[in-house]
Amino acid sequence: MWDRLLTDCHVATMVPTRGDPLGIIENAAIGIQDGRIVRVGRRAELAGTQPREVVPLHGAWVTPGLIDCHTHLVFGGTRAQEHALRRAGASYEEIAQAGGGIASTVAATRASSAGELLDSARQRARMLIAGGCTTVEVKSGYGFDTASEIRLLNTARALSQHEPVRIVPTLLALHALPQGAKRTAYVDMVVEEMIPAVARLTLADAVDGFCEGIGFLPHEIERMFDAAENHGMRVKLHAEQLSNRGGAKLAARYNALSADHLEYLDEPGVEAMAEAGTVAVLLPGAFYALGETQKPPVQLLRDYGVPIAVASDCNPGTSPLLNPQLVMNMACTLFGLSPEEALAGMTVNAARALGYEDEIGTLAPGMQADLCAWRIDHPAELGYWIGLPGPERRMVAGVDA
Ligand code: NIG
Ligand code: FE
Repeated sequence: MWDRLLTDCHVATMVPTRGDPLGIIENAAIGIQDGRIVRVGRRAELAGTQPREVVPLHGAWVTPGLIDCHTHLVFGGTRAQEHALRRAGASYEEIAQAGGGIASTVAATRASSAGELLDSARQRARMLIAGGCTTVEVKSGYGFDTASEIRLLNTARALSQHEPVRIVPTLLALHALPQGAKRTAYVDMVVEEMIPAVARLTLADAVDGFCEGIGFLPHEIERMFDAAENHGMRVKLHAEQLSNRGGAKLAARYNALSADHLEYLDEPGVEAMAEAGTVAVLLPGAFYALGETQKPPVQLLRDYGVPIAVASDCNPGTSPLLNPQLVMNMACTLFGLSPEEALAGMTVNAARALGYEDEIGTLAPGMQADLCAWRIDHPAELGYWIGLPGPERRMVAGVDA
């Protein structure tokens, strides 16, 4: 017997059918058993089933639970003063070179107790949850040494024990060079000590890096990717955010799950991503907060069939953004995505960017029953309202959360 039957709803399954990228089923019902979806169909087709509980949704629209596939949710302090500096004309690179930026968050993170770190991350997670997220990726990266990165990953993992959300932890191993460190020696440490230790403890699904002039260069990222591969971990990369360093092409060569940011991505990079099936994760919050003007090549990504995801990139420096609806809205208004593309970007394609497309991101038999019920007239509204409050109801593994 099914545990639950959700009725009196319309569903955007996010399994595209011909002419319908949202895979809409109107007047639908959803059967749930053991936390997974057993059937999704027209209400009439599911008549006669005898669930333990019938849950009428009073005409709501149901979508897969939203997935924020790129965040830096665990950190100490804020960088509100940098926001002020940038308004007065300083650039992200200038602030970083003067010892601010990522390094200042590392200092504030190290100064935070375990309880403070967890509490502040929980507050932020709750905002994403209230906005409809059922899965959130969380990167480390504000530790700069093995023990500190492990501490951040443990905090990320603890989030899912305290809040009703799935957490996908990523080791952001090469984020910025600590002040006074020697480049080669630092990369050696990451390759020989940090990645093996995190792999041994199975604390992260994937390894990430920041390929940029103020981050790490392709030959350094390559060594990090080799180490990840040797330890059976997938890779992703912050690439082509402020300049074109060929990061996306490099990531594709390592079958990366995703390449993220991509404002300066060129056609060979797009082509390489298409061939490798690497997802393009666009981060409009960072583009907006940094006042960038160079936009990611959305039309080229479409032309080559590269799946597009969108994410908050929530971090204290370049994207203090915690509202998933606003992420979708900004992806539409700033980058020209359609509302359907933006919704796919926080569901089906976000799941792909994490390697969990067989579990989450669509509403189909066998998938986790992670979903949101929205009081709207059409799913296009999710990319239309500027910072909509959030869903009326949210379920994780079929349970209201
Ligand atoms: O995704 N680009 C590097 N990492 C973050 C920013 C981190 C920070 O500035 O604290 C990003 O934008
Ligand atoms: Fe990031």
